[in-house]
Amino acid sequence: MTVEFMTVRGIVYAVQGASLSLKQGEVLGIVGESGCGKSVMVKSILRLHREKHTRYGGQILIEGRDVLRLTQKEMGIVRGTDAGMVFQDPMISLNPIIKIGEQIAETLRIRKSMSKRLAYDESLRLLRQVGITPPEDRYLQYPFELSGGMLQRVMIAMAIALRPKILIADEATTALDVTIQAEILALLKRLRAERGMSLIVVTHDFGVVAEMCDSVCVMYAGEIVESGSVERIFASPAHPYTKALIDSVPRPGTHGDKLSSIPGMPPDLLSVHTGCAFYPRCSVAEKCCETERPELHSAGGAHIVRCERPIWKK
Ligand SMILES: Nc1ncnc2c1ncn2[C@@H]1O[C@H](COP(=O)(O)OP(=O)(O)OP(=O)(O)O)[C@@H](O)[C@H]1O
Ligand SMILES: [Mg+2]
Repeated sequence: MTVEFMTVRGIVYAVQGASLSLKQGEVLGIVGESGCGKSVMVKSILRLHREKHTRYGGQILIEGRDVLRLTQKEMGIVRGTDAGMVFQDPMISLNPIIKIGEQIAETLRIRKSMSKRLAYDESLRLLRQVGITPPEDRYLQYPFELSGGMLQRVMIAMAIALRPKILIADEATTALDVTIQAEILALLKRLRAERGMSLIVVTHDFGVVAEMCDSVCVMYAGEIVESGSVERIFASPAHPYTKALIDSVPRPGTHGDKLSSIPGMPPDLLSVHTGCAFYPRCSVAEKCCETERPELHSAGGAHIVRCERPIWKK
């Protein structure tokens, strides 16, 4: 998939030929620093960008159907039923002056043509399922009456209300403190198991990937630079960027050691880079990396890396 935005500053090449696949029931992590294109990529699955300013390319297939070829009307059905989405900030998605239960019930009434009574009952069931109790009381509360963690649970209830095949969580726990974050991650895991959904977890945090995911895509400057199983990538990262990200995660037993960080910043995406985008920050780069765009290579089976000097070769 490619995603480009037409802006007053020029074309933003936000996603540049990213390829990934997701199996039923699989949990896929997408990691990378801020501005690497993670949100743009996952929002494209539901075509959530303003179409007037956005140019999509490639294919986005859900069970063989290309999302990029659907009409707006068909897209309206895909959103929520093929995939549901949870964002970092629940207050952007919730209406502050409508009771939370009613917001869930409204989705069910409109999208599933449920009667008022049925939608009420189903909303209570959903609230209970995401751990909001007692649901009858909570149904009547306004968003400002709930904590951040509770609101995120409401968002999850709304996202799964139409029984989507894929649930996408974009930094859904980033703004929460660690214990609440762990609870929400546990909830996502449980829902995935109960409903057989696939899950896409977008995060800055390799710790979350280790905890949650079966496989992972590492993004840098609008490209997927490495992908494969979580086990494999933790044990032997092949891209210098992935290794640097993993090395910057605090681990038990390393108390007192200095954490490593990656010098420099990701590039802006207003131009297509020649050569490797990570070149200026890479500790193992050579001259050729500056001018030659690295190809995708297999580092063994489904473990893929976009680097001409993968570190496992050394
Ligand atoms: N609608 C838009 N119009 C123009 N540029 C955009 C638009 N949305 C995102 N971008 C740009 O695309 C790039 C990728 O942004 P994106 O939000 O996907 O990053 P991200 O990896 O999700 O970062 P973060 O971890 O901070 O959420 C950024 O340079 C951003 O400024
Ligand atoms: Mg983002």
